[in-house]
Amino acid sequence: MIEEIKNHLDKVKKAALLSVEETEIFRIQYLGKKGVLNDLFKEFKNVPNEEKKNFGLILNELKILVETKIQESKLTATSKRSDSSVDLTRPGTSLKNGSIHPLTSVKEEIISVFKRIGFTVNEGPELEDDWHNFSALNFPEEHPARDMQDTFFVEKDPDWALRTHTSSVQVRVMESSTPPIRTISPGRVFRNEAISARAHCIFHQVEGLYIDENVSFADMKQTILYFAQEFFGKKTKIRLRPSYFPFTEPSAEVDVYWGLENEVDYRITKGTGWLEVMGCGMVDPEVLKSSGIDPEKYSGFAFGMGVERIAMNRYNIPDLRYFFENDMRFLSQFA
Ligand code: DAH
Repeated sequence: MIEEIKNHLDKVKKAALLSVEETEIFRIQYLGKKGVLNDLFKEFKNVPNEEKKNFGLILNELKILVETKIQESKLTATSKRSDSSVDLTRPGTSLKNGSIHPLTSVKEEIISVFKRIGFTVNEGPELEDDWHNFSALNFPEEHPARDMQDTFFVEKDPDWALRTHTSSVQVRVMESSTPPIRTISPGRVFRNEAISARAHCIFHQVEGLYIDENVSFADMKQTILYFAQEFFGKKTKIRLRPSYFPFTEPSAEVDVYWGLENEVDYRITKGTGWLEVMGCGMVDPEVLKSSGIDPEKYSGFAFGMGVERIAMNRYNIPDLRYFFENDMRFLSQFA
């Protein structure tokens, strides 16, 4: 009997109680109603008198050992949980919110206006070949019209350049789909221009294209008026001035009436009250033909606007360079 208790003493000393569950199993095994200690205490009456003292002492030793073991393991479990580096009651540190870049939000707003009347978005590559950027758009080789847009050519292969306008995407869409086509193409464009408050070598455009049977100049004007009134306000007036682009005939420049009430209006509109917002025109039959669309059957219009120009007016930003400097003092104003 004594031997049995000594065995238990050994076992208990060596027991490693690594989790709350293990400790509980151990507790039931030794201290439970039908546990080891209860059984041994019941044996007490059968132990011969001369051994009773010894038996009692050693059994008590086992009981104390079991209890200490359980106590210790509970302590380590709670101290693990209340590791002082984690205070679960402490308020969190909030992340600083960034803000959407003004060019992005203006671009998104332009897209959403055109989406409402059935236009879908198509994007094209920034590195473009001569065909899509120029030739298919009716810029003949060596033609002075190419000088309208100073181009960054790829040094080793002059057939490739950074696109000078998003009109290149028109060609790609026409080549790969059949009318009716209603698409807008936002994107970055590049021109070899000196950087100033009004010009940059990188800027953004949104191009639009509508091709179907019997599309007229009146459809174009109405679409652009719809855009202007959704974007600038319901009472907005527009006017179209004759212009020239190789890929449209006739071509026009669209002005929005801005007002001429104070000095800022004078400065922004160069004293006219009108603000130029985009170029547009009826797609030249030559361009349709180049892109595989039958000009006898289909006609259409196109337009292209500068995102920076529109954002500058919307937010009253006097210098285009702010858009590209990533100065937090500028950007945080759009949070
Ligand atoms: N691509 C022209 C430019 O960058 C803008 C433009 C004018 C686009 C008339 C058009 C258009 O689609 O019809 O200056």
